[in-house]
Amino acid sequence: MSEAVIELEKVSKTYGSGSAETKAVSEVSMTVEHGGWVAIMGPSGHGKSTLLQLIGGLDRPSDGRIVVDGTELATLGATELAALRARRIGFVFQFFNLLPHLTALENIEIALWLGGTKNTNGRAMDLLERFGLGDKARHLPGMLSGGQQQRVAIARALANDPGILLMDEPTGNLDSASEGDLLTLLSDLNAAGKTLLMVTHNPVVAQCAHRVLHVKDGRIVSDARNREH
Ligand SMILES: Nc1ncnc2c1ncn2[C@@H]1O[C@H](COP(=O)(O)OP(=O)(O)O)[C@@H](O)[C@H]1O
Ligand SMILES: [Mg+2]
Repeated sequence: MSEAVIELEKVSKTYGSGSAETKAVSEVSMTVEHGGWVAIMGPSGHGKSTLLQLIGGLDRPSDGRIVVDGTELATLGATELAALRARRIGFVFQFFNLLPHLTALENIEIALWLGGTKNTNGRAMDLLERFGLGDKARHLPGMLSGGQQQRVAIARALANDPGILLMDEPTGNLDSASEGDLLTLLSDLNAAGKTLLMVTHNPVVAQCAHRVLHVKDGRIVSDARNREH
């Protein structure tokens, strides 16, 4: 049994209060081992994105304990949490969230800068080239296709070489050719030792992961290993 890289103990997240209260995540306990590849499935509005944001330190739980890479997130102040997020966790958002007025190259450079990575010379360009986007370095995101924007977003998430990659519906807006390319890329990253956690609605995509969690009403209702892996 590998060492756990993500651990959740009775994690809950409640938004609002009184009659407007929503329990987005409800007493979730789980672990993800180092080098794991986990898909999270479940209906819309049932807490998948909230769960990912809590694990990624983008939001704080109302209750429970989250340990990422051996660090309990609650012990970190805002600055330390931002540093952990920038260096150890890559986040790929559903709608890419690239900065529209920066080029593809600059979008990655800013992540390197935020992560405090030294000697960044050439690293942003190397990442773009690795994802077949060397010739798009000076393009603004709006000039790129969905699949290309997605690859820039992944290159940005990998800028500081984090061990963990969190992805919210990474294939949601892609055509099937781009989806296939992305799955090959994710498979290579996982083989290189990255821990992957992805929310997806697509059963074919979930099949590529090693383990599938189903979320309903903010709870994990099933947790299954994929037979092929
Ligand atoms: N920032 C927020 N403020 C208030 N309610 C929220 C917020 N984010 C999510 N919610 C609510 O929490 C529930 C779970 O949302 P979400 O995690 O986005 O679900 P999913 O990703 O599964 O579609 C929904 O009812 C949603 O409306
Ligand atoms: Mg969501």
